[in-house]
Amino acid sequence: MSPLGWHRDSSSLLIEMAMPLLHEGARVVDYGCGTGGSAIELLKACDARGLGIELMLVDPLPSWFHKAHSLLADRPDVRLELSLRTDADGRRLFRTLDEMLDGEHVDLIVCSSTFHLIPAKVLDALLKEMAGVLLPGGSLVWSSGDIAHPSRPSSRALLHDPYRMVRARLRGEEARLAALDLLDEQARTRCERAADAIFPEPPDVSIMLNAVEGAGMSSRIATEQIEMSLDDAERFILVPRLSDVAAPLDSGEQRDQLIRSALEASFTAMREGGKADDDVYRIHWTFGVHELA
Ligand SMILES: C[S@@+](CC[C@H](N)C(=O)[O-])C[C@H]1O[C@@H](n2cnc3c(N)ncnc32)[C@H](O)[C@@H]1O
Repeated sequence: MSPLGWHRDSSSLLIEMAMPLLHEGARVVDYGCGTGGSAIELLKACDARGLGIELMLVDPLPSWFHKAHSLLADRPDVRLELSLRTDADGRRLFRTLDEMLDGEHVDLIVCSSTFHLIPAKVLDALLKEMAGVLLPGGSLVWSSGDIAHPSRPSSRALLHDPYRMVRARLRGEEARLAALDLLDEQARTRCERAADAIFPEPPDVSIMLNAVEGAGMSSRIATEQIEMSLDDAERFILVPRLSDVAAPLDSGEQRDQLIRSALEASFTAMREGGKADDDVYRIHWTFGVHELA
């Protein structure tokens, strides 16, 4: 599997930061493994150096997780854990890292492109949970293209800015409003909430740093410019789960076309604002390395 340019560029910087923290036999968690993109890049880097690690992949979303499973389950050094479970009353609950690791501790937690999707109100608890499974001197290494950082220059956007603009444009779009009108009020509210939640407002890096400090870890933060091609951006938002920003319109060519033209209008605004060129938009990507004292 060959990663897209923006994913390759952001992952390779993250892995550069992670590699010096690894040793033969190191135990590693990839938190928010998705379809396995970051884990595959990490394993490639370890394989290239002849470094053996034990990697546990964790994700709450069964559909993405199954893709990672089909790509990586054959490797004896990889273990996969679905982090959502349903209790006896049918409620969906997150399993803790301690539970998934069965009391074991790890040298490194990698969290690639995931922290911006985790609600701010659970970050304090999650960072403490992460610190709780790290060995003394163990580290958390993360990156995200959608975290607001005060150093962001006006020439760079955040990863999800164009897609938030698409959602804003589609909010008043006629065909979508007509489809919403066919729903009862409760279904309409549910549908709008779910569509708004696909690209939430970016959290501020200070929330992350406070949570890290509260968990007793040190902080090293870096930012880099990562470029995403406009073609990749279009493919990204047309993934079925993300193109639900146009819900309740049914998936299909008409919906894709509405999304494409809203995206084109967003890019025009980004070009005018100096954040995009003809073929790419620029993203202010944040990286964090935190060591447990
Ligand atoms: C953009 S993907 C990143 C995948 C992979 N780490 C990579 O970089 O290739 C983000 C992942 O975060 C997971 N995720 C979303 N919300 C989460 C939450 N509240 N807690 C943990 N993981 C979450 C999603 O299921 C998704 O697989």
